[in-house]
Amino acid sequence: MLSRFVILCGMQHSNSAHWPERIEPQPLRGGMVGMGMIFDETYRPFFEGVHGRGLFDPGFGLCDVVLSAVASRTGQRAAAYRAASQGRIGDFASFSGPRAVEELLSADLQFVCVASPDDRHFAAARAALESGRHVLIEKPSVLSLAELDELDRLARRRGVLAKVVYHKLFDPDHKKLRTLVIDGELRHVNNGYCSLLEPKSISGGQFAEWISGRNPGTYVAVHYLKLIDFTFGGRLISVQCTGQRGIVGPADGNTWDSTQLRVTYAYPDAREASFDIHTSWVTPDNFPGYVEQEVQFRFDNGVWNAHSRRRGVECTIEGRTPHALKITLNNHYNGRFLEPYGQRVQRGYGIEAIERFVREVAQVEFGRQPASRDQRLESMRNLGYNDLGAERQVVAAVQAMEAILARRAAGSPDCTVRVNGPDGGLVLYEPRSAGCDVLYAGRV
Ligand SMILES: NC(=O)c1ccc[n+]([C@@H]2O[C@H](COP(=O)([O-])OP(=O)(O)OC[C@H]3O[C@@H](n4cnc5c(N)ncnc54)[C@H](O)[C@@H]3O)[C@@H](O)[C@H]2O)c1
Repeated sequence: MLSRFVILCGMQHSNSAHWPERIEPQPLRGGMVGMGMIFDETYRPFFEGVHGRGLFDPGFGLCDVVLSAVASRTGQRAAAYRAASQGRIGDFASFSGPRAVEELLSADLQFVCVASPDDRHFAAARAALESGRHVLIEKPSVLSLAELDELDRLARRRGVLAKVVYHKLFDPDHKKLRTLVIDGELRHVNNGYCSLLEPKSISGGQFAEWISGRNPGTYVAVHYLKLIDFTFGGRLISVQCTGQRGIVGPADGNTWDSTQLRVTYAYPDAREASFDIHTSWVTPDNFPGYVEQEVQFRFDNGVWNAHSRRRGVECTIEGRTPHALKITLNNHYNGRFLEPYGQRVQRGYGIEAIERFVREVAQVEFGRQPASRDQRLESMRNLGYNDLGAERQVVAAVQAMEAILARRAAGSPDCTVRVNGPDGGLVLYEPRSAGCDVLYAGRV
């Protein structure tokens, strides 16, 4: 039998759940909506990592976290994963087809993770919240403020958490940036740019089933929208966007190859900052890294430059790079490693973000301090890095970007969306029109 000390420190991995007699773990059962790429990269290693080992915190004790049920469109990837994962994870129920989410919610679950395509998050998250489950949604959480209001209202009514995954906030480089800003070392951001380029295999293969009518801005610029919003604070005042078409879909259609988004913020001292965020999902597949990610932020007293692909490692292997393996590796996001003490692990900030949410659920359900569940719920809700309640400006920018691109596809270029102005919370203006289109009447 494993000793209590060994399990609690997580130094030994057991493949089956044989808990020591003295410890009665609390069961924490999760459900998964969507079994695609991001499941494989972050949720799978998380659930496999806690299988038979649990999650421990002195504040909530030991939790036996299991993946109990999954829902996907066809069930094929779930069946393949079940066959391939014997011994690494317990058995789970798999539901597919149009009623998959409804059937998943009939299982005994305390939390549900939603990792379906971004325009299908809302329905699944709403159903899960309505049924009283804590919910974690992949970024972008939802595509409109009306949907965000609905989810936030439901979470409050049912007394559960509604959270979103922005794993770039867990990137050590971004944590350092924020630390320098909060500590006043970097003073007053003035402007900046961010760039994230995905390979063609994403738009042409991985996402081919759902890419029609979509754009890479919603898919990935949102990471940087959250980074800017969370790190620098401020009040979003305007959104502009343009983009290119013709590779993923027709040149006059509504499916976008690349986008250039500009968001402008105002700060309490009446100064403004603008940020340009460039994204694409048509970068050549023989690119040396999986994605190209770069940021530059300029401050009153400094400049922050970061390149997530060039953190120091370049590796070439004949016949393997840059297709099967990449030349520049991101060993921080999510990598497989052989630890010096012999264990094989998969770790990184992508997985840390999922684990952190499950710890927050455990804190609400099993925490000892504060004494009341309502107080614990409130303190977890106050974590603005992932709570839907702190997501308003990010979703506003996404909704604005989608509306501007839709207008462009309909023949009306160069629209601007203004935030919390005299005409409403989120209002689209066409350059040659006297009128406006109110996207959201309430305050953002
Ligand atoms: N955090 C990140 O950096 C990151 C990276 C990649 C993807 N994502 C997000 O994760 C989500 C999924 O992306 P992906 O790359 O895994 O996509 P994917 O296309 O690889 O997988 C999508 C999955 O959703 C399932 N699905 C589709 N419609 C469904 C429905 N109506 N009900 C239930 N399941 C359904 C499919 O069967 C598939 O298993 C997207 O929102 C995306 O933005 C986040």
